[in-house]
Amino acid sequence: MDKGKDAATASASAATGLRGVVAASSSIGDVDGVNGVLIYEGYDIHDLARNSTFEEIVYLLWHGQLPKREELDALHKSFSECYELPAAILDLMRSFPRDAEPMDVLRTAVSALDFYDKGAHDTSREASLKTAARLVAQIPTMVAASERLRNGLEPIKPNPELNIATNFLYMLKGEMPTAEDARIFDICLILHADHELNASTFTARVVAGTLADVYGAVTAAIAALSGPLHGGANTNVMKMLLEIGDMDKAEAFIMDALAAKKKIMGIGHAVYKTEDPRATHLRLFSKELGERNGETKWYEMSRKIEEIMMREKGMYPNVDFYSASTYYMMGIPLDLYTPIFAVSRISGWTGHILEQYENNKLIRPRAEYIGQRDLKYVPLDER
Ligand code: COA
Repeated sequence: MDKGKDAATASASAATGLRGVVAASSSIGDVDGVNGVLIYEGYDIHDLARNSTFEEIVYLLWHGQLPKREELDALHKSFSECYELPAAILDLMRSFPRDAEPMDVLRTAVSALDFYDKGAHDTSREASLKTAARLVAQIPTMVAASERLRNGLEPIKPNPELNIATNFLYMLKGEMPTAEDARIFDICLILHADHELNASTFTARVVAGTLADVYGAVTAAIAALSGPLHGGANTNVMKMLLEIGDMDKAEAFIMDALAAKKKIMGIGHAVYKTEDPRATHLRLFSKELGERNGETKWYEMSRKIEEIMMREKGMYPNVDFYSASTYYMMGIPLDLYTPIFAVSRISGWTGHILEQYENNKLIRPRAEYIGQRDLKYVPLDER
């Protein structure tokens, strides 16, 4: 029996990856794909990107409102108190192969953090908030430490005075970033913080829905984020730009790829059918950083590809398209782009996990069975 042929009869929602299916109620974020609007807890992403900080966004996603000054100070204190990784986790990371994929390193190290948190299996709001703070504080430390370790360098100790964005860049490079770079990076974290029921957030909610602990839900979310159709796209965008290499070759490269039915990374979106509002900011950062570094080639090449994709397919860039050249201009290694996505998205994941625990119902959909029935077992030697 031809399974492939039968699969074609699957229902529309199953066949199209649950597109348009509402699978949870949430007050955290909303995506209006027709009008290109993204909100976090009622605030427009453009307003937040221009005016807020990543720490404020974390508070917003966890508590549903922007923090007052003393609440923000308390949040920063809770982060800075656990910026440092448990020594056993650093030792574990030292034992990883130098050529391990950074997302695999992150997934494994986050999973192991569970051993060193006494409250790990307590899914009450109070305990989960503590675990969430630990993860928001320690994932950046892990990503920076793994980069140092694979290059044979000692990890840099986090500086408790610094915010998450500045601290990350400092620990990554061993020197303080400029105020401009730190602010651009902070906005990048704001832009990637939440995106409703994207694949990794849905994964986190499914795992949390079993009442597994926060570490388990986040470990699974990291695995989902690592795929090239989700968070992995930003690294592939930069690989593509480098492979094209020269503006003059962009048109032929994209046309050949489209003729070969290949997908252009960083283009298209499952929900947005217009400009992804996050791309609006990242495009500006790519330009600004390119101009500041005297290297506008990657920005210009990206613009060219954007134009071709609009002309040929009527498709828009997504969040990954311009984050690639933005991070490249900040001197961040290509394979850290997706871990950086996790540095930000941990805020949204934990917001959704808290929300799931609060009003939990096991997530258990059904599959449309398209296989055969009533077959009789045939002994091995008679088949
Ligand atoms: N480049 C070229 N063609 C694309 C494309 C892309 N980036 N994205 C979608 N298409 C085409 C598909 O080939 C398909 O064409 P067809 O109908 O002729 O077969 C059509 O558009 C629909 O594609 P589909 O993958 O079903 O749409 P989707 O809504 O499920 O896809 C994405 C959303 C994001 C998975 C898809 O656009 C994609 O793979 N983009 C590249 C990866 C990426 O940037 N991911 C990050 C998302 S934030």
